[in-house]
Amino acid sequence: MSDNFKAYPDKKATGNFSEEEGKYCVRDINLAEEGKLLIDWAESRMPVMMGLRKKYSETKPFKGYKIAGCLHVTKETGVLIKTFQAAGAEVYWSGCNPLSTNDAVAAALAADGIAMYAWYGNHEDFYWCIDRTIDPRPHLTLDDGCDLIDTVHEKYKDYAKNGVIGGTEETTTGVHRLRSREAAGELYYPVFAVNDAETKWDFDNVYGTGQSTIDGIIRATSVLLAGKNFVVCGHGHCGSGVAKRAKGLGSNTIITEVKATAALKGILEGHELMPMEDAAKVGDIFCTATGVKDIIRKEHFAVMKDGAIVCNTGHYDKEINIPELEELSVSKRTIRPNCEEYTMADGRRIYLLAQGRLINLAAAEGHPSEVMDMSFANQFMSHLALVEQHKTGTNFAISVMDIPEAQDELVATTKVIEMGLKMDKLTDEQVKYMGDYNAGT
Ligand code: ADE
Repeated sequence: MSDNFKAYPDKKATGNFSEEEGKYCVRDINLAEEGKLLIDWAESRMPVMMGLRKKYSETKPFKGYKIAGCLHVTKETGVLIKTFQAAGAEVYWSGCNPLSTNDAVAAALAADGIAMYAWYGNHEDFYWCIDRTIDPRPHLTLDDGCDLIDTVHEKYKDYAKNGVIGGTEETTTGVHRLRSREAAGELYYPVFAVNDAETKWDFDNVYGTGQSTIDGIIRATSVLLAGKNFVVCGHGHCGSGVAKRAKGLGSNTIITEVKATAALKGILEGHELMPMEDAAKVGDIFCTATGVKDIIRKEHFAVMKDGAIVCNTGHYDKEINIPELEELSVSKRTIRPNCEEYTMADGRRIYLLAQGRLINLAAAEGHPSEVMDMSFANQFMSHLALVEQHKTGTNFAISVMDIPEAQDELVATTKVIEMGLKMDKLTDEQVKYMGDYNAGT
């Protein structure tokens, strides 16, 4: 661990932060024991990660490499960080959303030698924390939402061009941003789009988001979902997961879409398709999952039913236009954690959950460990590929890179084996048949 950190008296002065010789900044280091138990629990459900940890703690391929991460500090992320640490890396970390850090997990990691800069409710010092993880000039960056990559590119341009070997991006929104950066000629180092791995978006985005979003809504409201009109805005991977689970709990599911193929998939899943202006009038619960801004706005709030619940599960808090909701309302009060009631001039009440930030992490614990096992195996293996390439004295071309098919296959196969299940194998004859363009009828 580098000891070039300074103390942070201004953060300490708030009375909320523990800080030991400036090596981390978390809410309360005394929560470490509680956080360790959470990480232990996640480890027991993440066999692919634990296999990687076992294998690479012997060879330590990351020895001499510093990695900075900007990703939700959850018990699952704890497993990822500890795996990098066991494989020899020096790890520097910040949370990637003001409301997603588990303070106990952050404390456990800080106590374990991780340079952790994250706490729940960190709105003001969000970028300060990211800067602290860049101070030691890491070789690798690991993002969820692109804030670290953006900061390195905008604020530390020379270092981005000459000091970083490569990075990874975890989420759909972040990959979109990266691709626009690449198209504009403004990408300065190679980045793996972990989000686009089959073993990530077909599982984490669908089943992870599906379950954790419903979990967040229930924890924030405790409402019955059966019989409610549940509107999911966006039927991509994440939205489809939410709609599936809401339907499974007995909601009348309605989807809104701009892309015809995604809309059709939703229709064939049994959801009703409507434009937002119609859905706004009938919905009891609304959940945005689009990655786009202003999905729920003034004209929609204006026609919503009394008691409507509104939340977001996309990466940024821009999908619900909160300033417009504030503008329309005459009063506001907090009903319970992560549930705010806005009263309109005509007396209707609209409930906003988790300040419009991702409900699954702000009000619940994010995706379950079992799916993060695969997403994070892809993160780990992508960084391993970057380091191994670097050790050859060359580097990948600067671009947004897809995860190699072989990696996807390895992660999936390991997962199936670890679940104690068996698949079939093609016979030699079948392999031959599949490659035979003359097979005919
Ligand atoms: N994103 C969604 N769920 C997550 C989790 N449990 N840990 C880290 N990032 C996440």
